Amino acid sequence: MRLDVFTLFPEWFEWFQTQRHVRNVVAAGSELRFIDYRETTPLGAGQVDDSPYGGGAGMVMRVDVVDAALEAAYGAERGARRTVLLTPSGRMFDEELAIDLASEPELTLLCGRYEGIDERVREHLVTDAVSIGRYVLAGGELAAMVVADAVLRKLPGALGHAESALEESFSDALEGHPEYPHYTRPATYRGWGVPDVLLSGDHERVRGWRLERSRERGETASGGS
Ligand code: ADE
Repeated sequence: MRLDVFTLFPEWFEWFQTQRHVRNVVAAGSELRFIDYRETTPLGAGQVDDSPYGGGAGMVMRVDVVDAALEAAYGAERGARRTVLLTPSGRMFDEELAIDLASEPELTLLCGRYEGIDERVREHLVTDAVSIGRYVLAGGELAAMVVADAVLRKLPGALGHAESALEESFSDALEGHPEYPHYTRPATYRGWGVPDVLLSGDHERVRGWRLERSRERGETASGGS
């Protein structure tokens, strides 16, 4: 995958790039770029924002700044590219969307800052508007990192063992439910035990127990008790 993140703070992503699954996908051929809107802004002195029409507090990122950044990166080829704007008012990010985005050969994430981003970016320059939760962050950088993390770990070679993603939360193997609980040694700690079935060596029973717990967690997460 070729993943580009447009941001005013590319240095935020330095740590992200050091993470193992991110290094793994890069080693396997993916390309990541973190592009600063200021490098291509058509305005003087690195300006990227302006006061909102109609008045009000705060600054709004300009559509011409975002357009210039996309033009410089992709020229005429940007039409077909999946381009995601991170915004608290977007579609809620979930596993299904992560799988969908992971199937794209090229993906662009646009981070906004300040009070927001000119609505014409959403109307004309992106294919998706995505939120990572019903709260407002100072900007889209952390949201872009969440999306990039969830997407990149779906790519071949991201994880140490291919099978470790098969039975994880929300996978088909778990019927879309959250993951079952895990335990490891010691079998008893401070009097806290491990479910007997996991020590039984009976793989069928273990499978059944795990699926059951996973379903239960799904019900709890969706509002059950
Ligand atoms: N930018 C600011 N808050 C956000 C959120 N919750 N999701 C995505 N982008 C954001």
